[in-house]
Amino acid sequence: MTVAVITGAASGIGAGLAREAARRGMQVVLADRDAIALESVAAGIGTCAHPVVTDVTDYAAVDALATLAFDRFGAVDLLFNNAGVMATGLSWEIPADKWAASWKVNVDGILNGLRAFVPRLIAANCPARIINTASVGGFLPSPLMAPYSATKFAVVALTEALAGELKMLRSKIEVSLLAPGPVKSDIFRDPPPQAAEQFHGVMTSMLAQNGLEPDAFANRVFDAIERGEYWIIPQPEAFDQGFTARTETIAKRQAPIFYGVEGNE
Ligand SMILES: NC(=O)c1ccc[n+]([C@@H]2O[C@H](COP(=O)([O-])OP(=O)(O)OC[C@H]3O[C@@H](n4cnc5c(N)ncnc54)[C@H](O)[C@@H]3O)[C@@H](O)[C@H]2O)c1
Repeated sequence: MTVAVITGAASGIGAGLAREAARRGMQVVLADRDAIALESVAAGIGTCAHPVVTDVTDYAAVDALATLAFDRFGAVDLLFNNAGVMATGLSWEIPADKWAASWKVNVDGILNGLRAFVPRLIAANCPARIINTASVGGFLPSPLMAPYSATKFAVVALTEALAGELKMLRSKIEVSLLAPGPVKSDIFRDPPPQAAEQFHGVMTSMLAQNGLEPDAFANRVFDAIERGEYWIIPQPEAFDQGFTARTETIAKRQAPIFYGVEGNE
């Protein structure tokens, strides 16, 4: 039996990953703080779906999730630390509690997943994979979403450090960094502050028009997992050019380029 645990599974990418895991014959533990949406996604999947209402910012809740998964199935093969939130606005105007919420969900949420699951996975001494969701935005910072860019950069760094530590310990746990490009989801659900209204509108319609369907996206993710990839970048068209250009500007000590910002393209 293969068991996948997925946080942020009640919507968008997480729900797509949960459906794809089930299609591939896995038992799926779906975790999310949104109880109603979680039940609905789990009901759509059927008997191999096991919804557990969990707030990833609450270590005790994530620890209880790990206990439940190991007690029920005896093992966890795939852990997707996927829950994440967006915050838009001018960096100095975004309220401190919004900044803090971004760190709490996007970074501490993943840390809580690691604290709860890694010791159990090490003790089990079986092959497993941890997949942390960052973003293309974790490599390419954007104006008007600084809390998102900063926390996703942190996820990229944390995940690489984790992979090194597990290698040092000769653990059987593998690690992947997932960097989605645009995928249809509700990530821009919060109304924007005035300074980011236009940006928010552009991003919302870009996701609706050009975003990949979550299930098609999830299919690419599981194929990459089967290939054993560390860098899971399912939409290279949203990554390669920008990443190369940014890396070059740093190597040449040039100022950053901000696409879409007048006088800077
Ligand atoms: N959709 C995209 O285009 C895109 C691009 C790059 C990265 N991502 C990343 O993908 C991940 C999933 O985002 P999505 O686009 O599916 O967004 P989404 O908002 O549709 O889904 C995120 C889910 O996370 C849950 N969640 C939020 N805070 C939580 C908490 N404290 N505890 C438990 N669950 C919580 C929400 O309830 C929601 O169900 C995020 O990490 C996001 O940053 C998304």
